Amino acid sequence: MTNPHHRIQRISDLKRRFSDAFPDDATPARICRAPGRINLLGEHLDYNGLPVLPATIQHDICIAFTRREDHVVRLKNADPQFSETEFLNTEDIPPSPTGSWENYCKAAVQAVNRRFPQTAYRGMNLYVDGNIPTAAGLSSSSAFVVACALAYLAVSEFELDKDISRIDLATLLAEGEHYVGTRGGGMDQAIILLGAENCACKIDFFPLRTEQVPLFEDHVFVAAHSLVKADKTGSALHRYNAGPAACRLLTALIQQAARRAFDDTIEIERLGDLWQGPLCLTHEEAETLFRSALLEEYFSIDDLSRLLNVSPQTIRDRWLGALEIPPKGLPLKRRARHVLTEFQRVERGRDCVLANDAAAFGELMNASHRSCAVDYEVSCAELDELTHVARQAGALGSRMTGAGFGGYTVSLVEKPALPQFLETVYQEYYQPRGITRDQIDKVLWAATPSSGAGYL
Ligand code: GLA
Repeated sequence: MTNPHHRIQRISDLKRRFSDAFPDDATPARICRAPGRINLLGEHLDYNGLPVLPATIQHDICIAFTRREDHVVRLKNADPQFSETEFLNTEDIPPSPTGSWENYCKAAVQAVNRRFPQTAYRGMNLYVDGNIPTAAGLSSSSAFVVACALAYLAVSEFELDKDISRIDLATLLAEGEHYVGTRGGGMDQAIILLGAENCACKIDFFPLRTEQVPLFEDHVFVAAHSLVKADKTGSALHRYNAGPAACRLLTALIQQAARRAFDDTIEIERLGDLWQGPLCLTHEEAETLFRSALLEEYFSIDDLSRLLNVSPQTIRDRWLGALEIPPKGLPLKRRARHVLTEFQRVERGRDCVLANDAAAFGELMNASHRSCAVDYEVSCAELDELTHVARQAGALGSRMTGAGFGGYTVSLVEKPALPQFLETVYQEYYQPRGITRDQIDKVLWAATPSSGAGYL
């Protein structure tokens, strides 16, 4: 939010709506804000401890909040699809049924409570107003978690950047969001808290580190909705969790291969450990290790039980949970190929942005989309079609963004070519699907990375 006039108006408007929503609360409300994000390169890497390259967007969630004298957290939302709700702030907050929006607030409050044992379990009134498209892969849920955490820190009299750093809060909330049932990595919370205007951010994990990368001056990233809902609390939750589960199995297989190759006491917690810490392998060495660990394309539970020397039940309990295994087995070799190649694309991508080489960056985006679609299998027909349309319309590169299975794509477009690009994509993708010219701005827009989360 760079325009000061717009900012002041938004604050006074939110305060007025807070008073309308909570007429009995005379305390002056404060306001916090958290942006959504697009990911430019590095999909499904964060939970492996490997780097990603996202950027914030102009869409955000604002919360007007006050402290209550009891321990009740009351939530009201400007969007009527999220009905009014409340919960009691206690040491162990029981989750509401899967899919309930208050779970994200509970996740934030519980995480802050765990971090600050001296907390007073304060209550608060929250009025939420957001414009990040939901169920679209733009991290509206993590933005909500971050905004709730900022409100709760403030009512608890903890100061951001003093009592807790942004890095520590991002780490805390990444873990805290597992409360809702998704085993996500830490990309979303980190970019939301540490993103900056007109920058992408290269994020490394374990420990969390960020590097601001100023974006191309003559190109923009255009975000386009496939119009397929990607609701991470619905059916996509299981599909999403399949990624981390496959990678945990890969980690077990790789640990075994590393013990054979190097030292039989090596512990590998996640795939990213191969490139850092005591092992510190080169890409070539890591590839050799993967080849020696993955002799087949597909792995059944019996194969895994034999290879890891544990019972089939242990494979289920320890790694897979309720995950469905396709009849051919798990395609672990392809999953590994995505992780290895995507990691290298992030490193090259960062260098391309710094060298102002948009054409090479675009190629990496195209390769990343292929890898997400073919090797990691998180795309869908509409995302494939929309990225194809975008390339035909002149984008230097186009790919799905976020967890996948629907939601948004991002495309890299030269600024002078933007109007023609938007028109062609409209005619080829949206018009046939009944989207009118009045509605197009809602689903097709140029991203302008905004500042990270904070108080207004
Ligand atoms: C979701 C998760 C992130 C990340 C992406 C895929 O957005 O919340 O942690 O895993 O999917 O890159």
